[in-house]
Amino acid sequence: MRETPPGAEISLYLHIPFCRRLCWFCACRTQGTKTDAPLAPYVASVLAEAKRVRASFPDHITVRRMHLGGGTPTLPPASVMESLLGGLDRIFGLNALQEFSVEIDPVECDRERLGVLRDYGMTRASLGVQDFEPRVQAAIGREQSPEITQQVVGMLRELGIEAINFDLLYGLPFQNMSTLERTLDTVLSMNPSRLALYGYAHVPWMSKRQTVIPVEALPDPEARYGLFERARNTLLGQGYLQIGIDHFARPGDELAQAFVERRLRRSFQGYTDDRISRLVGLGSSSVSRYPQGYAQNQSSTRLYQAAVRDGGLAVSRGLALSPGDRCVAEVIEHLMCYFEVRLADLQGHGRLAHNVLSTMADKFPEAVNFRDGKLRVERWARPLVRIIAASAGATGEERQSYSAAI
Ligand SMILES: C[S@@+](CC[C@H](N)C(=O)[O-])C[C@H]1O[C@@H](n2cnc3c(N)ncnc32)[C@H](O)[C@@H]1O
Ligand code: SF4
Repeated sequence: MRETPPGAEISLYLHIPFCRRLCWFCACRTQGTKTDAPLAPYVASVLAEAKRVRASFPDHITVRRMHLGGGTPTLPPASVMESLLGGLDRIFGLNALQEFSVEIDPVECDRERLGVLRDYGMTRASLGVQDFEPRVQAAIGREQSPEITQQVVGMLRELGIEAINFDLLYGLPFQNMSTLERTLDTVLSMNPSRLALYGYAHVPWMSKRQTVIPVEALPDPEARYGLFERARNTLLGQGYLQIGIDHFARPGDELAQAFVERRLRRSFQGYTDDRISRLVGLGSSSVSRYPQGYAQNQSSTRLYQAAVRDGGLAVSRGLALSPGDRCVAEVIEHLMCYFEVRLADLQGHGRLAHNVLSTMADKFPEAVNFRDGKLRVERWARPLVRIIAASAGATGEERQSYSAAI
């Protein structure tokens, strides 16, 4: 932070770990709360942390992007949300925001809370949908009707927010081609500008509540592949562009534009057009990224709040990036965005870049082709790009990913 030059631009990420419901399929770091009691004290901790972090930056910095993630960031009541955003505005200044995105659980938000978010500049909403089929929803412990989802989409549009993402999952219990098509029909009738189509990661050793998911009803790898391909073809047929491995966007969406103009990035948060090199993470378990490396806050909310109360920073671990790490991270990012990487993209890494690419080509002689300064993943091998990319080195992408390769 001390190396940040005056006038630098930063992005903010704010983590709200709480959820009212704990969906059985979910592998995110969340904690349930039946009441609103923990929310105001948590917000007070985040603001105390924000003040301390702000003091270590130069006087003049500009916040260009902000993302509220969770958990369920729309859980705090409107008054608590107001004190959070008002506080951040006083500490960092939010009037130059270009993008302010928020993860929204449609069953845990209302017009009042959306209004507060809009007043502080929300530009993009990301709605958890997963699947609309009642039998699938019952098996993953998450009920959410199309009507309630449509209602929230309507409220967002009335507030002038047209940039709407849906998160969908394939590979869920009882999903098949007909249930998938029905879900896609309903989704398309709401016309989101962007869709994430994630493969369901069944990792009960990491997420205990997944033990109630009926494993015998999970589609096998071949069926998963078929589901993804069917969804992909439907979305392409409806005019969406495929972005990287699992995103789809209308051509006018910023991510689609970044993709076409080869400005697409992939961070630990997923695909983005954010090119700002400093991301400040606030809240329990949040990750900050600086040109020198990464830092992660205490992931236990209790320990996070104790650390802030004791007057220290809440960081629990850090990772300094070596030149080799940086080169490998760039190789992985290009592959995950474009299924190819050019030596010209890796200028500044010299001979190291060539070594990383030729080692990958040797490991996967059939799946990749390395010619004329460009390494390309063959079309048939694209579903395996995670495995291929991970072979570039033990990087953040590999360590943090919990999704199955397909
Ligand atoms: C923080 S959650 C969503 C925000 C909000 N709490 C909601 O439920 O709508 C972020 C997304 O992670 C994805 N996700 C969660 N668990 C997953 C799993 N086991 N496998 C793949 N994706 C998962 C879901 O698509 C989910 O919408
Ligand atoms: S899907 Fe959303 S609401 Fe459900 S447990 Fe995960 S973060 Fe919480």
